[in-house]
Amino acid sequence: MSAVPVIKLHSGASFPQVGLGTWKAEKGKVGAAVKYAVTECGYRHLDCASNYLNEDEIGDALAELFESGAVKREDLWITGKLNNPYHHKEHVMPHLKKTLLDLRLDHLDLWLMHWPVAFKYLQEVTQAANPGAAKVDHSVSIRETWEAMEACVEAGLVKHIGLSNVPAIIVHDIMTYAKIKPAVIQNEMHPYCQQPALCEYARRLGIAMTAYSPLGTGSNHSWTGGDVLLQDPVLAAIAAKHGKTPAQVCIRWAVQRGTVVIPKSTHDHRIRQNIESVGFELDEEDMQKIAALDRNFHYLRPNDWYGIPLFCP
Ligand SMILES: NC(=O)c1ccc[n+]([C@@H]2O[C@H](COP(=O)([O-])OP(=O)(O)OC[C@H]3O[C@@H](n4cnc5c(N)ncnc54)[C@H](OP(=O)(O)O)[C@@H]3O)[C@@H](O)[C@H]2O)c1
Repeated sequence: MSAVPVIKLHSGASFPQVGLGTWKAEKGKVGAAVKYAVTECGYRHLDCASNYLNEDEIGDALAELFESGAVKREDLWITGKLNNPYHHKEHVMPHLKKTLLDLRLDHLDLWLMHWPVAFKYLQEVTQAANPGAAKVDHSVSIRETWEAMEACVEAGLVKHIGLSNVPAIIVHDIMTYAKIKPAVIQNEMHPYCQQPALCEYARRLGIAMTAYSPLGTGSNHSWTGGDVLLQDPVLAAIAAKHGKTPAQVCIRWAVQRGTVVIPKSTHDHRIRQNIESVGFELDEEDMQKIAALDRNFHYLRPNDWYGIPLFCP
């Protein structure tokens, strides 16, 4: 199997370009998926979030992997995310400590502000943490949250901090006061949502970009409509030309344009297929055809979920 390329962050750290996504990876399946990905397929990057409600099972899998000697902690890149109801400065570090407890780790490699908006505090992390606008807490600024995240780096609980679901203007604002600059921006990116201007802006600032929902978040997007990415005829033709699948074309395209990419699967054959995408190359004509598919189409529509016209990353 080809080695997974890395992106060098401004800290000098190596950020593996393909990772395993874990959103909607149900308990009862996610632990086995993580173990298979790491031991059988060479994944060294896991994308987690407290909001996915599965970090405890991932933590058990990680403990098993470390105890068995299958992999060392320092060889894995583990990303977590600060959930919206914990943005107040008093809640940020305790929330990270809960994540570390669940994942059974003493630090994360990367911690992202999951969404740039504070929700009212909730004692327990639940999916109900994503209700409507009534839950927005207008008393907490992004600056307050970012500074509390910086304190977590200073405390040695996380090596890098970053942002998710942000437009360039929020990044610009944070850059005016950040003592610790964002290392990574994680946004929805795939051939229908390429975000070229944000990618260029991040490149100039030395911030790495991670593409989430790189396969168009699978078939579970009836709630947002739009064409099914993996059924796109242009992608199908490029896939056929290389003897690959449309999913592999999407992942390879993300790697080749210099982003990190975190496809999710809990099925062994897809977990393997996805990381094997690093083992072939798209030519210039393929890349141009894929560039022409951009339509700034988001499968994830938080505006609809939260009822707040705030999110246009
Ligand atoms: N920061 C954020 O706000 C945010 C938002 C969304 C996602 N994310 C992260 O990004 C990760 C990936 O995004 P996502 O989960 O939305 O969707 P995705 O990776 O675009 O797509 C996952 C879906 O595609 C299917 N799939 C996986 N590999 C496939 C293949 N080779 N061929 C055909 N189908 C395949 C999966 O099914 P099976 O599992 O059944 O194989 C699943 O239904 C998430 O898991 C999460 O870690 C972050």
